[in-house]
Amino acid sequence: MRCDQTFAWKNLQAHAQGFAGFDLRTAFAADAQRAQTLSQSAPHVFADLSKNHTDSATEALLMALAQQTGLAAHRDAMFRGEHINATEDRAVMHWLLRQPAGSLQGALAAPLAQVHETLDAMLRFADQVRADAQITDVVNIGIGGSDLGPQMAVLALQDFVIPGKRFHFVSNVDGHELAAVLQGLKAENTLFLIASKTFTTIETMTNARSALTWFKAQGGTDVSRHFAALTTNVAAAAEMGISTTFGFWDWVGGRYSVWSAIGLPVAIAIGAQGFKNFLAGAHAMDQHFQTAPLEANLPVRLGLLDVWYRNFLGYTSRSIAPYHSALRRVPAYLQQLEMESNGKRVDRNGQALPYGTSPVLWGEPGTNGQHAYFQMLHQGTDVVPLEFIAVKKPTHSLKDHHELLLANAIAQAQALMLGQADAGGHRHFTGNRPSTFLLLEELTPASLGALIALQEHRVFTSGSVWGINSFDQWGVELGKVLAKDIHARMLSGNAKGLDASSAALLQRVRLG
Ligand code: F6P
Repeated sequence: MRCDQTFAWKNLQAHAQGFAGFDLRTAFAADAQRAQTLSQSAPHVFADLSKNHTDSATEALLMALAQQTGLAAHRDAMFRGEHINATEDRAVMHWLLRQPAGSLQGALAAPLAQVHETLDAMLRFADQVRADAQITDVVNIGIGGSDLGPQMAVLALQDFVIPGKRFHFVSNVDGHELAAVLQGLKAENTLFLIASKTFTTIETMTNARSALTWFKAQGGTDVSRHFAALTTNVAAAAEMGISTTFGFWDWVGGRYSVWSAIGLPVAIAIGAQGFKNFLAGAHAMDQHFQTAPLEANLPVRLGLLDVWYRNFLGYTSRSIAPYHSALRRVPAYLQQLEMESNGKRVDRNGQALPYGTSPVLWGEPGTNGQHAYFQMLHQGTDVVPLEFIAVKKPTHSLKDHHELLLANAIAQAQALMLGQADAGGHRHFTGNRPSTFLLLEELTPASLGALIALQEHRVFTSGSVWGINSFDQWGVELGKVLAKDIHARMLSGNAKGLDASSAALLQRVRLG
């Protein structure tokens, strides 16, 4: 049933009205167990949810909402391989990429065997590249999910990255990006990975062709050794002259593809065993999502909290603050995950929705954000729930730095909640500002895998309750079509039929 037609939704609306006077400080004073009750452990991730605008009644009503919208059945349909991505008539099985070999019977046994066959080939290749001292530079050319996942993960796992190799990520069609990377490279020392699920994305195809041209102009001849394509469209890669390929399947969405061949840069960076640990961490979270009771299920609790904030308390954005500089691309990664998945205005049947869906996600690492936009989080007119991501153990020996970093994270969450009532005017902090605190014991391939799978399933949860298809992305298509048309006009100078603003801009930017 559509979420806004359930009893739980109506009850949540009533509950939200009575919630206007909710105050975190009072809630903590009234319930000595609040920090415990509203905490949740999951594989590799501990979450303190207690500084959120919820109480046990909210949680109970949200669980009822999950039940009345059929969340568990929808989740189970995904794990059975049903075509829940109906608008593209596809299964949604990124989770299968982290499923141990031979662990499934029935219809999914064959795809799982294929997954492992491809994974083994990809990991053999990764280890081969690692052992090849001649290859000093790996350049990933891809955009969206074919860039953000591997880039975020290679950066996050920098302490595990093989010494002696540099990793570059070229995504934008902006030639400044490719030119800057190529400037420092030698053809004989470079491996290009052309990452594109469809192998049609104009930015990636343009960058790949320019990289090929550069490679040949530098005297490079052995394309099969220096170029590999990571794609579901092996035929298109072959047409471009790239014969070394690692495939995946249409049931892996771009933003869910870091676990597939798209993860090859990660596998080269951290090795076959490291990549397997990354998959194992994610798999542990898959099992938690599948088997933990909804009320003790971290992705479910987070996803439902997102619904509560968006639809009942009117909070339209969520800020992400990783208190670990290696996690600095995580906000960008999560932007695609959440906003491309749940930025939808129609339900699964194409009917317009009368309620809000994806929040706006944004953020920067702490403590940097504290000295930039945290002002608005503390004293602005809008309430923005903040999600801290902290890591207990550092991998460097500057213990005092790490203590200061973690102290800042806790202090910020505290300041948001407690505020400062005794000061007036400009110095007054209302407090009662919500935050979630996610804590990893250490940042490893396994814990990163778990953290990312947690976020995937949390987005699944809110998308499922909202009744939308979280796995298509039709909203990116129109711009692609229009860019083709404008590009042709840029070459010809023909502005006929264009709106006046676009025509004037076109004339202004034409290089002639
Ligand atoms: O344009 C959006 C999108 O399709 C994303 O969903 C995807 O991650 C990205 O482009 C790249 O697509 P591809 O891997 O097919 O090049």
